[in-house]
Amino acid sequence: MGKQNQKVLVLDFGGQYKQLIARRVREWGVYSSIEPGNLPAEKIREIAPIGIILTGGPNSVYSDEAPRCDPMLFRLGIPILGICYGMQLMCHTLGGEVIPSKIREYGQTVIEVDNSSPLFEGLSPSEIALMSHTDRVSRLPEGFERIAESKDCEFAAIQNKDKRLYGVQFHPEVELTLSGKKVIYNFLYNICGAKGDYSMKDFIEKQIEEIRKQVGDEEKVLLALSGGVDSSVCAALLSKAIPNRLICIFVDHGLMRKNEGDQIEAVFSKRDLVFVRVNAEDRFLERLKGVTDPEQKRKIIGSEFIKVFEEEAKKFGKIKFLAQGTIYPDVIESGVNSANIKSHHNVGGLPEDMDFKELVEPLRSLFKDEVREVGRELGLPESIVNRQPFPGPGLAIRCIGEVTKEKLDILREADAIFREEVEKSGEKVQQYFAILTGLRSVGVMGDGRTYDYTIALRAVNTTDFMTCEYAKLPHELLAKVSSRITNEVKGVNRIVYDITGKPPATIEWE
Ligand code: XMP
Repeated sequence: MGKQNQKVLVLDFGGQYKQLIARRVREWGVYSSIEPGNLPAEKIREIAPIGIILTGGPNSVYSDEAPRCDPMLFRLGIPILGICYGMQLMCHTLGGEVIPSKIREYGQTVIEVDNSSPLFEGLSPSEIALMSHTDRVSRLPEGFERIAESKDCEFAAIQNKDKRLYGVQFHPEVELTLSGKKVIYNFLYNICGAKGDYSMKDFIEKQIEEIRKQVGDEEKVLLALSGGVDSSVCAALLSKAIPNRLICIFVDHGLMRKNEGDQIEAVFSKRDLVFVRVNAEDRFLERLKGVTDPEQKRKIIGSEFIKVFEEEAKKFGKIKFLAQGTIYPDVIESGVNSANIKSHHNVGGLPEDMDFKELVEPLRSLFKDEVREVGRELGLPESIVNRQPFPGPGLAIRCIGEVTKEKLDILREADAIFREEVEKSGEKVQQYFAILTGLRSVGVMGDGRTYDYTIALRAVNTTDFMTCEYAKLPHELLAKVSSRITNEVKGVNRIVYDITGKPPATIEWE
């Protein structure tokens, strides 16, 4: 990062949206970093941010555990936006009153806003905002005035224009607040005097500096490259930071889609890194012989993967650093232990008992679309940057029943046709693929009877992959795919389209 980048500090009071706030600031071209809520004012003065955002948090200002800020914070002359708990803390600290309440105001709410405030410039007098709070401000500190209210919240937003202190009870960082992005923009550009001098290029430069600082001038770094967006972008970034000291091990388990292994090799063997492709298809198929249970398949593939990876890694001697393409949503997910519906296997989740001293995770603070942007900036092709999610166990969990080379080859061909046609059609679908159902059925081809496999097509729309709807693809498109697959792929005589959402189904069939 160029040293001259303007900065906004996001002071963290335990709110679930802190990374989202930081991201919104970045989106508007301003560098932001998240710091603990109680960061001393002196320290803040040294950092010299152009603005400060106080996050929400689960506490009440009256509770003993409630995180506090340095009261001098409000005297620094730096513009501040307090969000939810952040606004209550500001009021409480500056002599206003916050009243505890047992009832939570939650959900999208109509707020009446005073759009003559610089915070609300360009907003309509009536807006929709996400409220999520129990306590609320009941009396303003001196010098403050109301700039928004809702039916149940007298002070939905406040300002002290002279001191450039602002507070919003709602959450401008989430999409459910329809003009939220504009509110953040207004804070940055109308109030903090942002210039918009930060871009993904700066992010890349800053990460490169940090990687070099962490790894030093000598050490090597190991990465399990799956060809997915995250590990690929991570590899591209590291190869720039420490050219030729990154060792990428790509375990080709033979469960990839058509031509995928070769594509990955073509992209990464050209970069400044050591690229090792391990062709382990036979090994994986051998271990999967006779196995039909989905969980069993996943476990076998996961453990075999680690074995192969370890064997290859050993050939390079002792390596101190392991890089992982962990991104921010992974950080949240791993914090929550949801019911084990499927044991997801990710090459990122490697291997706990290996002898590494340190992890290198340069993408930890980014959301998926930001990772894609970094990838583009680093010159990775769209086929990688826009790759749809692909499960670690690969086609093994799209091949119902026993996995064999013959079945995988049929599935690869059918899947390639489906993907090609969806891409050509321009339909917007988040994830789409074919499944080789274990089912065989009777058909007729020419004058002869056939007894061949049924291919299922799955296409879903989703925002978070936790739930999904099946995509309503046009019948013409489905008909074309059906006719192409049955004509071009030997061993298939029937195509069905999966019309279930999640729940009750899952996206993958196994
Ligand atoms: P399900 O089938 O659980 O899938 O609805 C949700 C999303 O996760 C992907 N998926 C996986 N990704 N390792 C992964 O990295 C796995 O083992 C795995 N299983 C499912 C799936 O493709 C979908 O996007």
